[in-house]
Order: sequence, then C-alpha cells, then structure tokens
Amino acid sequence: MAEGRPSDVGLEATQAIRRARGVVILTGAGVSADSGVPTFRDPVEGLWKHYRPEDLATPGAFQRDPCLVWSWYDMRRQAVLDCHPNPGHYAIARFLLHRNDAVLVTQNVDGLHARALEEVSTQEKARGSSGAQDRMLHLHGDILTLRCSRCSYRERNRDRVDTSSEATLPSCRTCGALLRPAVVWFGEMLDQGVLNAAFEAAARAQVCLVAGTSAVVHPAASIPQATAQGGGSIVEVNPEETPLSRLAQWQIREGAGVALPRILSGVDEYS
Ligand code: OAD
Repeated sequence: MAEGRPSDVGLEATQAIRRARGVVILTGAGVSADSGVPTFRDPVEGLWKHYRPEDLATPGAFQRDPCLVWSWYDMRRQAVLDCHPNPGHYAIARFLLHRNDAVLVTQNVDGLHARALEEVSTQEKARGSSGAQDRMLHLHGDILTLRCSRCSYRERNRDRVDTSSEATLPSCRTCGALLRPAVVWFGEMLDQGVLNAAFEAAARAQVCLVAGTSAVVHPAASIPQATAQGGGSIVEVNPEETPLSRLAQWQIREGAGVALPRILSGVDEYS
C-alpha cells in the first residue's frame, strides 16, 4: 500500500489508471458531500444520525406510515434538486466519456452523476453520451424516479409530494396503488441484472477506484474485491480509513471533489 504526500500517491494512482485495461469506479455518498448532500454515517451530520433506517427506509415502514416515509423522501428529493454536481462528478463524467473501458457503479440515488454526464456530453457534443450512459450503474436506484408499490409502473418525477394524507400521495396510473421512490430499501434485493453487470465489470477491470464510501454496506462493498481477486489494483479516495483501505494499493486521504479531478485528469491521453 502506498503512503506519502497525497500528490505523489495521486500521481502513482493516475499512472495506474492510465495504463489499466478496464477501470471500475465505485462511488458512495462522500462523492456528493462536496455538493452539500449529507452522507449517511457522518458522526455529526449523517442522515442515519437523525433518522433510524427501519423507521424510514424499509417496506414495512412504508406500509405502516407512508406519509412519514414520503415526508422524508420529499425533503431529500428537494435537497438533491437544489444541489449541483461538483468537480468530482464532472471528472468521473469526462472519464466515462473518454474511456469506453470505464464503468461507474454508484450507490448514490441523487442523480448527480447522471446530471454531470449530461452537462459534459452537451459541452463535448462530438463524443455523444449514449455509450457512457449505459456504463453508469445505479445499484441503489434513483430518488427522482417513482415506482408502483404493487405493479411494474415507473415514472421520472421531480414534483413536490403533498404528504398531508394518504389520499394526496402519488398513486399509480395503472393500478391505483401508492407510488414510492425507486430506491432500494433495507431488506430489499438489489436489481440482479445491475448487480451482475457491476461484478462482471469489476472482475474484468485492472483498477477499481473507490471514492466516498464507508464500504460497510454489502454487496456494494464487495465489488472492489472482484477486481483484487482478478489481479487488479484498488485506489481509495476518502478522507477517512475504511474496511477496504487495507486492500487498497493507493489511499488518497482527500475529499473527492479535490482528488478526483487531479487523478482522472489528462483523460484525452488515454483515448
Ligand atoms: P456513508 O455515509 O456510509 O459513507 C460516506 C463516506 O464518505 C465515509 O467513508 C466518509 O469518510 C466519506 N467522505 C465524506 N466526505 C467525503 C468527501 N468530501 N470526499 C470523499 N469521501 C468523503 O455512505 P455510503 O458508503 O454511500 O444505502 O453508504 C452506503 C449505503 O448505505 C447507501 O447507499 C445507503 C446507506 O444506507 C441504501 O440506502 C440502500
């Protein structure tokens, strides 16, 4: 594991990423921290410091008190819509556009990676974004998409939700059941197709860049191990140590908004 000045470690990590055939980037809430989106486990500001997951982010909680669950998600949806991608999101977006051997696997439901990719694609019209969008895997869903709690209906939706009574909550156009945020709740299975694609990409990659995750929620936290088992290297960007740190060849103890633009810079040279 490389230690030393962040700039030296960053340079070595950059070179490893430049040389790699196949790069997987795994992100967590820390990547959006510089945009002002609270993380889950921060000891002072973390979302799970103020709310118990089982009161708000489980199917049982939604059955018991959908207005309470929707109040929390309405607040988070508005907070996310008021935020903007930060330099870390833009660096990843450019990397995805320029490297067609790169795959992003994110645990974040805030949509900031997708917004950054849309903006960067518009700026760099010549490259188009269709391939890059397909290489962006949302493991835990998307807070700005609603899905039916009974049938398969889904819709993109940024509207405020009136949580004053169950009758005012959004309901399904097809079957009339309540709509819910299209995010994965505790006790629910992840989309198997998305999960398989993430593990396959990680197993193929020569470098797994892990940024802004506490690496305690599985199966997401096991994805970098697939790269390590295939003989690849792990680069970790996180101001704090995590359970993954001991597996990482390079640890960059900085915020993602600062470190990612630096270590993913010069991407034109790879293409
Ligand atoms: P956590 O809140 O568990 O961890 C955030 C990580 O980001 C911590 O390790 C911080 O040290 C780090 N961090 C904070 N600021 C940072 C910055 N500026 N740059 C880089 N890193 C920074 O969030 P996740 O690991 O994403 O799941 O949590 C994983 C899952 O747990 C979430 O997707 C969510 C939650 O329960 C579901 O809702 C299913």
